[in-house]
Amino acid sequence: MDPINLTEALASFDALWSPRIVTTVNDYDIRVAKVRGEHLWHAHDDTDEFFLVLEGRLDIALEDRTVHLEQGDVFVVPRGARHKPSSEAGARILMIEPSGTSTVGDRHEEVPDHVDATAGHALTGHALAGHDEVSGR
Ligand code: NI
Repeated sequence: MDPINLTEALASFDALWSPRIVTTVNDYDIRVAKVRGEHLWHAHDDTDEFFLVLEGRLDIALEDRTVHLEQGDVFVVPRGARHKPSSEAGARILMIEPSGTSTVGDRHEEVPDHVDATAGHALTGHALAGHDEVSGR
């Protein structure tokens, strides 16, 4: 595979709450997403879900507390735990979860129009390029 630049990957799309799969590791996707406003309450019955905040701030509401994540923070939502991510001012995040995992989980409230219920989208070609000119340094 070719190297993938996360900044370029994030620049290749604008949709909110609509993750792009940047690569895979064994059976797991590495996904990036732009988020702003509220996601929805949902739970993944069979998998933990890893979050890394690349930029901005992300809140993850859980049943008994809300976790506040800043740039560089990581957090894992345990399998089965109901959670609702949100970001008042917007954030760019990276997630790690098994390929095929739905963004809205196995159990969820009604999916609002601004949320994409997906197992992640492929990156478009132009996010994959860009390093040839520096090869050989
Ligand atoms: Ni989730």
